[in-house]
Amino acid sequence: MSGDPKTVGALLAWARQLLDNTGTTNVAQEALWLLASALEMEHHALVSRAEQPVTTDQLARAKTFVSRRIAREPLQYILGTQEFCGLDFAVTSSVLIPRPETELLVHAVLKEGGLAEGATLVDVGTGSGCMAVTFATILEGIRIVAVDCSVEALAVAKSNAVRHGVGEKIVWSEGNLLSPLRDRITLGTVDVIVSNPPYITEEEWEKLQPEVRNFEPRLALIAGPRGTEFHERLFHDAKEFLAPDGLLVMEIGLGQLPLVQHAAEQAGGYTRLQTIKDEAGIDRVIIARRAG
Ligand SMILES: C[S@@+](CC[C@H](N)C(=O)[O-])C[C@H]1O[C@@H](n2cnc3c(N)ncnc32)[C@H](O)[C@@H]1O
Repeated sequence: MSGDPKTVGALLAWARQLLDNTGTTNVAQEALWLLASALEMEHHALVSRAEQPVTTDQLARAKTFVSRRIAREPLQYILGTQEFCGLDFAVTSSVLIPRPETELLVHAVLKEGGLAEGATLVDVGTGSGCMAVTFATILEGIRIVAVDCSVEALAVAKSNAVRHGVGEKIVWSEGNLLSPLRDRITLGTVDVIVSNPPYITEEEWEKLQPEVRNFEPRLALIAGPRGTEFHERLFHDAKEFLAPDGLLVMEIGLGQLPLVQHAAEQAGGYTRLQTIKDEAGIDRVIIARRAG
């Protein structure tokens, strides 16, 4: 069409204007990321080669990417990637986009888990595999099992393990929380169970920004009326799998600490509950140790 932007610079200005009109924050940066990916150019080249003509294919891809973003699809799904603990993870709409807060769980496990060679670690609700794969790249001689009830999520997680050269170091298991482990793992032998479970209520979900509500999997987000239903089940079920002194490490939502502490008391069999706050000062991680 005659009105279409003809050069890289004009395309960049066009993308910025469209994104600006839809109220996207961080417009200049997002326009650069989207166009760098659509045009397969480095960010700096978009600026230094502003006069370069765009091809029909580049224009078509740029239009698709910008309209997806205008429809409030998360940038990460459009670009197909998100960084976590310094590694790039492929993300599709079948998996939650890894969040920076979840890196706190990885740090907590590395600091408190005492994982020596031969130890067993289970990641429940692995999603993109961000935690399991990160552990596999750092820890040697550890048995890592990653569970998810979504076959599609497991496919993404496996591809991420291959991408980071640890495809052979993780055992993937499809099913409901810890139940698929019953035939695979001797009870009382797991050193760490780590999980970022779904933890929001239906009511909270309704109020989330469209990027999350309309695009991220409901299965990854919604728990039940309290939001802590998965934590309660994991406190209950993890007891028989954990070795004495083994850790259950879970991410929690805003204001959920009292409910989650209560769930640990109700389940019994845990000692030395610890919490970790995120950068905003919100209690974000709970660590419970299996009583010896
Ligand atoms: C909040 S996401 C976390 C994904 C990933 N671990 C992360 O931190 O980015 C929760 C994950 O739990 C999975 N899930 C939900 N219900 C489950 C269940 N009953 N059993 C196993 N996995 C479940 C979802 O498919 C989703 O991948």
